Amino acid sequence: MASVDLQRLPRHVAIIMDGNGRWAQSQGHLRTLGHREGSHAVRRIVRAARRLGVQALTLFAFSEQNWERPAPEVMALMELLREYLVTEREELLENGIRLRAVGRIDRLPATVRDVLDPLMAETADLRGMTLTLALSYGGREEIVDAARRLAERARAGELDPREVDEALFEANVPSVDVGRVDLLVRTGGEQRISNFLLWGAAYAELHFTERLWPDFDEADLYEAVAAYQRRDRRFGRVTSADHEPHPRAAE
Ligand code: IPE
Ligand code: IPE
Ligand code: MG
Repeated sequence: MASVDLQRLPRHVAIIMDGNGRWAQSQGHLRTLGHREGSHAVRRIVRAARRLGVQALTLFAFSEQNWERPAPEVMALMELLREYLVTEREELLENGIRLRAVGRIDRLPATVRDVLDPLMAETADLRGMTLTLALSYGGREEIVDAARRLAERARAGELDPREVDEALFEANVPSVDVGRVDLLVRTGGEQRISNFLLWGAAYAELHFTERLWPDFDEADLYEAVAAYQRRDRRFGRVTSADHEPHPRAAE
């Protein structure tokens, strides 16, 4: 098993959990069975990341573009999400895990919102690890939303457009509230970002693995972290640094 240096952990790990459909189809099952198995992998990896000491874990669970999938698959995903939130409540509370969601949450069905909203409120003060679920999420959409908010404030006379700089813009990108992404993992063999954390992952180390998400386990997570630790993060400079500086870290 890959050995991990606990002193140099990525602070913010993000995962594109891909390959559920192929996992199921390769065994002659419906895609939705792959999603169910994928939800078990979510449990496993949230627990492993918490034990390891990762501060922020962001999981791409459903993209804005995934609404275009066949309705039965979308419905099955929403039902699994609801089930996950109901069954994981205790685990999150016991392990001090704060739950957040980013994305166009208002598009989610009430059956999901009814469990998601109270659970986010209930875990809001927990500091063991922050688990962010990207739901109905798109990186471009998030940037457009931030631009719109700033434009509205400028129109209302609350903001001088000349004040808009990187730090102010970033303060309007919710997925970066927990810090910029250090390590971005994608399972399932594709080597693309698929509109995930476009702003926060600007300097993320990328780790692609062939492993399909339902098969992704603790050892795979440690392997991804070990690969991250072998990288030399320079951020355009000549000396390496562990984490990308965060403009709001000093606040
Ligand atoms: C990832 O698995 C889960 C979601 C996108 C919701 P996929 O459903 O994309 O699985 P593949 O990529 O088709 O195998
Ligand atoms: C990205 O996977 C979205 C999630 C993992 C939720 P997709 O399967 O939707 O991405 P593409 O279609 O391969 O780009
Ligand atoms: Mg996919």
